[in-house]
Amino acid sequence: MNGLKDLLEKAKKEHFAIGAFNACNLETVAAIVHAAFELHSPVIIESSPGETKFIGSRNLACLCKNFAEETGLPIYINLDHCRSMEDAYAAMDDGYDLIHFDGSRLPLEENLRIVKELVTEAHDREILIEGEIDYIEGSSEKHDEGLPVIKTTDVESAKKFVAETGVDILAVSIGNIHGVFTEPELLNFDLLRELSSQLPCFLSLHGGSGIETDQLKQGIENGIVKVNINTELRIAYRETLENVLRGNPDEYAMYKLLPPIIEEVARVVSEKIKVFNNVVK
Ligand code: 13P
Repeated sequence: MNGLKDLLEKAKKEHFAIGAFNACNLETVAAIVHAAFELHSPVIIESSPGETKFIGSRNLACLCKNFAEETGLPIYINLDHCRSMEDAYAAMDDGYDLIHFDGSRLPLEENLRIVKELVTEAHDREILIEGEIDYIEGSSEKHDEGLPVIKTTDVESAKKFVAETGVDILAVSIGNIHGVFTEPELLNFDLLRELSSQLPCFLSLHGGSGIETDQLKQGIENGIVKVNINTELRIAYRETLENVLRGNPDEYAMYKLLPPIIEEVARVVSEKIKVFNNVVK
């Protein structure tokens, strides 16, 4: 049995969430592992199509495997917002534990057909599949504007999609948006409760950056078991890098410049893991 499935089951029962943190290089992976290790917290490391293209799915999988062996920590890998069957199969071959197929831009029937096929193949290999039917707005960056108008998850379409595909996780659209905006995102808990009570699968929350602690906690209390975080890590990385370069104009050894960045990204990961209540005491 896929260990991640057991963990998601436990999270649902005990009301905590597993952090899914995006990574594209050694520093971000090291930061995520460091924070998770300190808190004895199982963790998901994920890569978007752009991040995967940069680091390579095989490289990321090997890095995670090495860190898991070194720390003894359960580290799961997710292909985040995958939009092609080819990428999905490559990641399965390379050892990913979870594939998030983002078919939210496709007609529902086409999305359903692809995800159904992926589920059949993935389950044979004990890999999990996450689906998405309503496009989750935004992008993982700092936006200098207020929140965009969003389309929330339609309960009837979600029921049909989950029943016909047998998908393990559904990425819900309940007010969550990718990125950080000039105002915080507010979640629709009535909709979340309805989805949670009507759907047999696990529910994930994308766009975790820019959502206040109390909202995240209520989301987890009402059925969210996986929260994706990217932008806040990117901001921590970039701002620390700028400061370090400004403060060390004559240093050229990267291994001397990068530790403060790892430390700062780890601090953000650690804060989120505590909010998700995923700390083994
Ligand atoms: P944020 O960039 O808002 O944290 O969202 C990340 C995400 O959902 C990745 O799938």
